[in-house]
Amino acid sequence: MGSPGGIYGSTPAPKTISPLPCSTHKKHSMKTYLIAGGSSGIGLELVKKLSGEGHQIIVLSRSGENLSGMPGVTHLQKDILTEDIAESELPTSLDGIAYCPGSINLKPFRALKPTAFLEDFQINVIGAVKVLQAAHKALKNAENPAVVLFSTVAVGQGMPFHTSVAAAKGAVEGLARSLAAEWAPAIRINCIAPSLTDTPLAARLLSSEEKKETAGARHPLKRVGTAEEVAGLAYFLLSENSGWITGQVIGIDGGMSSLKIT
Ligand SMILES: NC(=O)c1ccc[n+]([C@@H]2O[C@H](COP(=O)([O-])OP(=O)(O)OC[C@H]3O[C@@H](n4cnc5c(N)ncnc54)[C@H](OP(=O)(O)O)[C@@H]3O)[C@@H](O)[C@H]2O)c1
Repeated sequence: MGSPGGIYGSTPAPKTISPLPCSTHKKHSMKTYLIAGGSSGIGLELVKKLSGEGHQIIVLSRSGENLSGMPGVTHLQKDILTEDIAESELPTSLDGIAYCPGSINLKPFRALKPTAFLEDFQINVIGAVKVLQAAHKALKNAENPAVVLFSTVAVGQGMPFHTSVAAAKGAVEGLARSLAAEWAPAIRINCIAPSLTDTPLAARLLSSEEKKETAGARHPLKRVGTAEEVAGLAYFLLSENSGWITGQVIGIDGGMSSLKIT
C-alpha cells in the first residue's frame, strides 16, 4: 500500500535503502563566489573562510583595503548606490552570492524623513536587486547555485526606533521568498536575520564594554553575536550541505526572536 499524500506523496516506500550521495565525502571543489560587501564585518569573515578553502571570490565594495594578500580574492570596486553592474564584469559562472551591504539607522519615527526610508530601501533592497539581475545568467551556469541576503531580527519582532530599517529589511525578506519561488529549482535563495552583531556597522551601538554588556543582556544567550558566527551561517547556506533549504528567513540572534526567559 502506498503512503498517505501530503509531503510524503503516494509512492510506495522502497524496500531497500540505497546509500545517499554524501556531499561531506566530497573534497571541496574550487568554486566562484560574489560577495557584495565582503570588505568588512560579516561579509569579510565569509570571504576569509572561502578564501581559506581555495575558492575564487569577487568582492564588490567601495574599498578593498582589508582584502590585500587574501588568496583567490579579486576586488570589484563599486558604489552599489550610484553605479550599475554589467554582466561582463562578472565571471560567466557563479556558485554563490551573498549581498551584505546594509544599514542600522535607528531613530524615533517622527525624526525619520521619507528620504531616510528611501535611503535604507536603496542600500538594502535595490542594491541586492542590481547584483542579482547582473548575476542571474552566471548563477544559472553553475551546478548548485545559492544566494544569501540579510534581514534583521527587527522584522519579525517589533522594536522601537527600527521603522526604517525594518521596512527595508521586510522588503528584503519578501524579495528573497518571491525570487526563491521564481528561480526554483535552479537557484536557492535564503535570508539571514541576525540580531546585534559586533561589526563596524554596529560600532556606534557597541563602542564600550558597558554598551556591549547592556546590549548582550537583552538576549536570552546574554551576549551579542560575532561576525564569524553569522558568516558561518552564510557559509552553510551557500554550501551544498543546505541543498534542500530555500525561501527561508533564518534567525541568528541569541534567542531574541523566539525565547522569553524573564
Ligand atoms: N551588524 C549587525 O548588528 C547587524 C544586525 C542585523 C542585520 N545586519 C545586516 O547584516 C549585513 C552585514 O552587516 P555588517 O554588520 O557586516 O556590515 P558592515 O560591517 O558595515 O559591512 C558592510 C559591507 O557592505 C559594503 N558596502 C556598504 N555600502 C556600500 C555601497 N554603497 N556600495 C558597495 N558596498 C557597500 C561595505 O564596504 P565598503 O564600505 O568598502 O563599501 C562592507 O563591505 C547587513 O545587511 C546588515 O544590515 C547586521
